Amino acid sequence: QPGAAPGGCPRTGAGGPVPPLFSRQFATDPYPAYAWLREHAPVHRTVLPSGVEAWLVTRYADARQALADQRLSKNPAHHDEPAHARGRTGIPGERKAELMTHLLNIDPPDHTRLRRLVSKAFTPRRVAAFEPRVQELTDRLIDGFAARGEADLIHEFAFPLPIYAICDMLGVPREDQDDFRDWAGMMIRHGGGPRGGVARSVKKMRGYLAELIHRKRAELGEGGGDDLLSGLIAASDHGEHLTENEAAAMAFILLFAGFETTVNLIGNGVHALLRHPEQRALLQASLAAGESGLLETGVEELLRYDGPVELATWRFATEPLTLGGQSVGVGDPVLVVLAAADRDPARFDAPDTLDLTRRDNQHLGYGHGIHYCLGAPLARLEGQTALATLLTRLPDLRDAGDPGDLRWRGGLIMRGLRTLPVEFTPESS
Ligand code: HEM
Repeated sequence: QPGAAPGGCPRTGAGGPVPPLFSRQFATDPYPAYAWLREHAPVHRTVLPSGVEAWLVTRYADARQALADQRLSKNPAHHDEPAHARGRTGIPGERKAELMTHLLNIDPPDHTRLRRLVSKAFTPRRVAAFEPRVQELTDRLIDGFAARGEADLIHEFAFPLPIYAICDMLGVPREDQDDFRDWAGMMIRHGGGPRGGVARSVKKMRGYLAELIHRKRAELGEGGGDDLLSGLIAASDHGEHLTENEAAAMAFILLFAGFETTVNLIGNGVHALLRHPEQRALLQASLAAGESGLLETGVEELLRYDGPVELATWRFATEPLTLGGQSVGVGDPVLVVLAAADRDPARFDAPDTLDLTRRDNQHLGYGHGIHYCLGAPLARLEGQTALATLLTRLPDLRDAGDPGDLRWRGGLIMRGLRTLPVEFTPESS
């Protein structure tokens, strides 16, 4: 059993054996195991299902410190594994060299330069201007099943919404977006599994992006489009531009980082609301009164309570350091468990309670420090629009079938449901 170890706390031996990590039961509800780790082994060395050894950081204070610690590099070249095993950042296809130079794989000063360039194009204004489009997409997807009285909310709603949204924002023509949906679907379904299909999908996406970037660059001479990719190509900092490879890697990471995360924000969010009828009723009453305050604090709370990113992406120690009292050696991988930190009773009152009104809520669901989620404003817009529209149009939404049958994806970085069957009173057309 990977992760299981006899003898309790590695330092004190207290607390009984380490609960099994990465089992099916753990995938369904990892929070009791995280509570144990926070208490007995807050910085815990474990063997991951892939066979790689890594430190798991589960307390809020340690997690926040690790996320901002510049001695922890994002560059997989710092991993002490042999070269053939490198590059496990949790992102399928990232071993392809051309796509490696993305934000989540690099450190300052390269990170600073690329992040500044992308921030010039991915502005809050661009996201705000996108609001009507997200609403239109949301309504169109709900139209697809509203008259039927039942749906699988993952496949028919949470999955397509973010991929169409980010494609639109990047400027991928509508007629090509279904290809993207299929490639991205392959990457989600088989991200940690068989590599053949994933490799083919990444290759196709890479080829398509190269051609699209080429086209957008040519169009810039004629004034260019007002999409994000054109903005990325045009953005310059002290006269510096993104290279062709950097632009492709940036488009890829935007697609990838903005996709499964948002699928799971919607999926996990609806799942949590269906299990907390009094909280859901509060939100529905607030929406019916035309308020937005509870929706805003509510989506943040859903991120804290059962967020999409269970573990932050990989970090590697570039010098010996001490974390939560443990000595971390050079080259050791460190995984910050956001889901555990965000339930830490040392930071949050009643951390296992879903409280949509929670105000003191500096959760780590979007990370912290220089790699803080670039897409947080877009994720908030999508999450708020999706949940508000769903609960308003289908007010008696409920589980279909036995909620005990729900299956969670067994990935390492992300936490999300495979399916979420629901039923509701059909909308009359
Ligand atoms: C980084 C979470 C949606 C783009 C991150 C990180 C987290 C995160 C935790 C930091 C990872 C680390 O430090 O290892 C989320 C969640 C989302 C979401 C929970 C949805 C609810 C999006 C969207 C986009 C996006 C919609 C873009 C379209 C990025 C990018 C980075 C990032 C580019 C890397 C930033 C950097 O390294 O400087 N996200 N994300 N994310 N996210 Fe998001």
